[in-house]
Parts: sequence; structure tokens; C-alpha cells
Amino acid sequence: MKTITSIRELQSTLQSEKLKGKTIGFVPTMGYLHEGHLSLLQKARTENDIVVLSIFVNPLQFGPNEDFDSYPRDYQHDENLAKDNSVDFIFYPTKEEMYPNELTASVVVHKRINVLCGRKREGHFDGVATVVTKLFNIVMPHRAYFGMKDAQQVAVIEGLIKDLNMPITIVPCETVRENDGLAKSSRNVYLSEKERDEAPTIYQSLQMAKSEILEGETSPLTIIHSITEHITKFTSGTIDYVEIYSYPELKLIEKLRGRIVVAVAVKFSKARLIDNITLTIPE
Ligand code: PAJ
Repeated sequence: MKTITSIRELQSTLQSEKLKGKTIGFVPTMGYLHEGHLSLLQKARTENDIVVLSIFVNPLQFGPNEDFDSYPRDYQHDENLAKDNSVDFIFYPTKEEMYPNELTASVVVHKRINVLCGRKREGHFDGVATVVTKLFNIVMPHRAYFGMKDAQQVAVIEGLIKDLNMPITIVPCETVRENDGLAKSSRNVYLSEKERDEAPTIYQSLQMAKSEILEGETSPLTIIHSITEHITKFTSGTIDYVEIYSYPELKLIEKLRGRIVVAVAVKFSKARLIDNITLTIPE
């Protein structure tokens, strides 16, 4: 395994691998790796000759009052995990390497953003789409792996790839959870002991919603109401949103049918947790 910090060096290294006919699988992350990230690396490992992991906390996707400075970072820990998971190259650029000058051009996302996390995080998905486009141009992978934990991010990137004709296959990967159902997240370390005990309620409420839907409930409002009630009753967190949309278009629906996403965000004292399920309801 080799760590590369220079864009030019990574490009020339990967170019020569591609000339040898090797396929490249790419896992973009902001580091502080946990089993969620590792599941993407493992999937990439089984499907490609070369696995590239990027670790870059992208300032462009954090708002002025968000946690860019305090976002957890631990390169040594990440390097050890990457080694254990047979990564070939870690791309670990500095902010100056990625953004040497004020940007002349960047990517603006038009759709799939005024809902869920995008509604309040103005500019967040422009920041994600810009860095992902830069990373794709640098790595030029055959396949790129993203977690469905961030279902809106997957929907935006799938739109980006399609609309800008990027020759890359996006591989969405299932959310990895703790034994009690809490979705693994770098931000779980900020939960107090009490909040950590309460946090699995979020996934339980989604599972309850799934059962209600599969038993025939067709009203999004009824489902949203029962999730809200459950989370309010069993946690000290504040609900940021409980929303249901068609997936991946993220359009409002009056009746539950086809492919949908049911998504929740809950604010605890120092962490905001998100989770979702996607379901396909037969017509
Ligand atoms: P980050 O939050 O580090 O996540 C990197 C990838 O890991 C994302 O695709 C995310 O969906 C996935 N992931 C996180 N938790 C997961 C879990 N519990 N199960 C499965 N996958 C999980 O998402 C980003 O970084 C950034 O926005 C990035 C795409 C790197 C652009 O900066």
C-alpha cells in the first residue's frame, strides 16, 4: 500500500496501471474510518484490480456554522485500517493541493437538493459534487462506491454522473449498523452515554414504518406521524426532519408506491444523526 499526497503523482501512477489493463475501484471518504467505510473498501476489493481510497475533509461542503474544524481526524488509524483491507493507494491531499486558488469554476446541483439534508445545508451538495468531480477527474475510476447511509448524496451523484456523462459506474452500498441497529457514523463519538442508548430508536422507527408500509399503509403523512411520535417518545433528541420521497428523484409523493426513501435526521446535544431506508412498493 502506498500513500500519495500529490495529484500529479496519483494521476501518473494510476495511468500506468490502466495501461496494463487494470480496473480501478474508488472509495472517496473524509477519513476517521469505521466499518461503514470498510464495507465499501471490501466491495471495491472484490470487484476491481486496484483499490484507491481518498481521505480528504472537504471544506467546500461544510457551512460556516458546521463542524469542519472539529470533524474527527486520525490518519494513523485510517492508514492501519486501509492496510488491513488491502487498499492499494491512499490519496491523502492537503487543502492546498486540492484548492490551490480561489475556484474559477465549480459544480452547481439543481435538483434533489431542496429536501432532506440539502434543505438546511445550503451549498452542501454543490461542495460534495465539486469535490467528487475533482476526485473523479484525478482518479478516473471504473467504479466508485458510496454508502446508502447518505441516500441523498447517492441520488445527487447518480444525477451528476448521468447529466455530465461521466464514464463511471456508481455502486451504492448498504448501510452498516451497530448490533443494536444504530447506523455507523464518524459522528457517533459525540453522543453522550444516554444519547447513545437512545439512538437505536431511530432505526427502530424506520423498521416500524417499513412494517406499516408493507402491511398496506399508503399515506406518507401517517407514516411520518408514527415515526415522529416514536422518536419523540423514546429519545431526548430533537427531530430535524422525517420525510418521504420517491427515490432517486426525491420528489414528494401523495401515495406510497414504487421506489421510495424514508429518511430521518435527529439532533442530539453534540451530534446530528441521519438514517434512512429505501423500499420498493409493488403497484
Ligand atoms: P464520509 O462521510 O467519510 O463517507 C464516505 C462514504 O462512506 C460515503 O459514501 C458514506 O455514505 C459511506 N458511509 C458512511 N457511513 C456508512 C455506513 N454506516 N454504512 C455504509 N456506508 C457508510 O460522504 C462523504 O464522506 C463525503 O461527502 C465525500 C463523498 C467523501 C465527499 O467529500
